[in-house]
Amino acid sequence: MIEKITKAFLEKYGAQPTVFRSPGRVNIIGEHTDYNEGFVLPAAINKNIYVAVSKRKDSIINLYAEDFKEGLVFDINDVERSSTQWPNYILGVVDQLQKNGCLLSGFNLLIDGDIPIGSGLSSSAAVECATAFALNEIFELGLDKIKMSFMAQKAEHTFAGVNCGIMDQFASMLGKKDHVIKLDCRSLEYEYIPFKLDGYKIVLLNTNVKHNLAASEYNIRRQQCEEGVALIKPFYPSVKSLRDINMDMLAKHVAITHPLIYQRCKYVVEENIRLLAACEDLKKGNIIALGNRMYQSHIGLSTEYEVSCKELDFLVDHVKNIPAVAGARMMGGGFGGCTINIIEEDAIEKTIKEVSIAYEKAMKLPLTSYIAVIDDGASKCNITDLQLTANS
Ligand code: GLA
Repeated sequence: MIEKITKAFLEKYGAQPTVFRSPGRVNIIGEHTDYNEGFVLPAAINKNIYVAVSKRKDSIINLYAEDFKEGLVFDINDVERSSTQWPNYILGVVDQLQKNGCLLSGFNLLIDGDIPIGSGLSSSAAVECATAFALNEIFELGLDKIKMSFMAQKAEHTFAGVNCGIMDQFASMLGKKDHVIKLDCRSLEYEYIPFKLDGYKIVLLNTNVKHNLAASEYNIRRQQCEEGVALIKPFYPSVKSLRDINMDMLAKHVAITHPLIYQRCKYVVEENIRLLAACEDLKKGNIIALGNRMYQSHIGLSTEYEVSCKELDFLVDHVKNIPAVAGARMMGGGFGGCTINIIEEDAIEKTIKEVSIAYEKAMKLPLTSYIAVIDDGASKCNITDLQLTANS
């Protein structure tokens, strides 16, 4: 990929680029908890967005996306939301950098990658993080990875219109090979926990659907959680987010008067408890207990938080009957994308085959699968041994 993107860049812009990558992510457990100041347990994976970049002396921003075979031109002095969606993840970051006082000139950027789009693996966060990381390096801005993840998140809010939490950008930036990140989204304290699954692997099963409710329903869930907090606050003034709320408070002040808000908040409060227990399972190497919590998480996401869909439910229900699968659940924002499954290594091939046949028969859709390997977060790619020329 590094060679491919370097060659493409040379052909397009006739200059030697620097190449950077930022990965997609999985999340073991802790969904829709990040924007409620809760905990998440993500990891960066071996699927990446790559950007090849070179500085320009003028104010032109040349962007080219290999996936769409489309090139667009902007000006650094006039960065606005584009009517085409893909440049927005890049322009949003440029806008954030400028709003934070970073001095930029024009640049050429070519983007490629192997994260399937719309599959819940956070390809958009990876684009934002790869861009932030690359521009930070070439313009020597001196930003650290945490600061860059927040700028990337803000870019998603302002230029992509999704009021997301910090999980995806944080994982894409700060992921660590063979470790999951236990991130406290309130204090931003984080701990790398070794992800040792002797005899098991993480398998992603892609429904190949992305219902277009995803963005609007995501923002609605966020508002509903805020409503829950507002209902509790008069009784407990120190409460700031769902992190400060327990089941008793919800039962007493929300359950009867606002049943839907209660349902949403109950899921979040319980998911945080499940996550903390799952970290202990992980430290003890108890994969079966961890897997069971993943199944519980899915039930909450599907029946209480209501962000699943029939395709995701089908996949999780189906693998529940397969003993080689320790646990599974929908992953990410929901309404499509992938399920994350912990499967005995020896049974992966057979399981995928069986689930594919059942899924294709029931949903009339193809199933795609990936084995996710936990990898490092954003980095510069080494192309010193690839000093290609425009004619090579
Ligand atoms: C999306 C968002 C994240 C997080 C998840 C749900 O991936 O970008 O911030 O809220 O959904 O856990």
